[in-house]
Amino acid sequence: MNKILKKRTLAPKVNEYVIEAPAVAKHAHPGQFIILRVDEEGERIPFTICDYDKEAGTVTILVQEVGYSTMKLASVPEGGYIADFVGPLGKPTDLTEYKNIVLVGGGIGSAVIYPQAKHLFSLGKPATIIVGARNKDLIMYEDEFRAAAKELYIATDDGSYGVKGFVTDVLKGLLDKGGIDCVMAVGPMPMMRAVSALTLNYGVKTVVSMNPIMVDGTGMCGGCRVTVGGKTRYACVDGPEFDGHEIDWQEAMQRLSAYRDQEKEHVCRLTGEKR
Ligand SMILES: Cc1cc2nc3c(=O)[nH]c(=O)nc-3n(C[C@H](O)[C@H](O)[C@H](O)COP(=O)(O)OP(=O)(O)OC[C@H]3O[C@@H](n4cnc5c(N)ncnc54)[C@H](O)[C@@H]3O)c2cc1C
Ligand code: FES
Repeated sequence: MNKILKKRTLAPKVNEYVIEAPAVAKHAHPGQFIILRVDEEGERIPFTICDYDKEAGTVTILVQEVGYSTMKLASVPEGGYIADFVGPLGKPTDLTEYKNIVLVGGGIGSAVIYPQAKHLFSLGKPATIIVGARNKDLIMYEDEFRAAAKELYIATDDGSYGVKGFVTDVLKGLLDKGGIDCVMAVGPMPMMRAVSALTLNYGVKTVVSMNPIMVDGTGMCGGCRVTVGGKTRYACVDGPEFDGHEIDWQEAMQRLSAYRDQEKEHVCRLTGEKR
């Protein structure tokens, strides 16, 4: 059992949870993730380690409510417990070989770029950060990003905050100026694909964090398979971060929506509820 020490709402249907998990915190690095179950009958759901405190023994996750299990998690109050919290899983990401890094976060992707931003800042190599969302209400961690960034740009689709447009519009302006040697982009797959297509034109190394459907998280079920550079890779053990220029995006997006029709008609075997 792991205790939810703190819980706060950052945006509509997005909560930040600080979880008591000393063993996970002790070994955590930026780029890794955990898998949790809300209760003993719950499914295993993966979340990025957004922050960790090795001394306090805590791990922070940001969770967007999109379906059954994330809503169930949202119903657990601060001070309550979840059944288990396994990790750290996946490979850490090390961007320290690069000199001029741009971190691009779309929506809940902020949870993945924040630990990188904090890590690079702590090494005295702060990154330029671009955060994008549909509107102002969905922008998260603005103060935290501002404190860790060399420069922070905000883009909203509707222009309600920052630049009106997509993160790719802001990124293109920076790439045109030159000097960038690495871009890390995390968000919905169409956004990561668009960033990778853009940076390919400039020959700039691009790292993305893949969020395929995961089941076991240990490389055994094959659920999280992605093709990278023509080779089969498993996001849970070989990733989740990969070279965006080498991903077979069409296959990855098809696999993510493979069960969409069944999900519409699905009757949950755990609860009997229909979605
Ligand atoms: C390595 C990894 C890290 C992740 N980190 C985070 C994070 O930090 N914060 C966060 O909010 N979410 C994160 N996710 C996604 C999260 O795991 C899913 O949103 C969650 O499992 C959905 O469970 P559910 O039962 O609530 O929704 P479901 O009822 O299972 O699904 C609801 C809808 O969401 C879609 N969906 C389900 N899983 C995913 C997925 N992996 N990617 C995209 N769409 C999905 C379904 O197709 C469906 O349309 C991560 C996923 C992976 C693989
Ligand atoms: S989740 Fe099963 S192999 Fe990655």
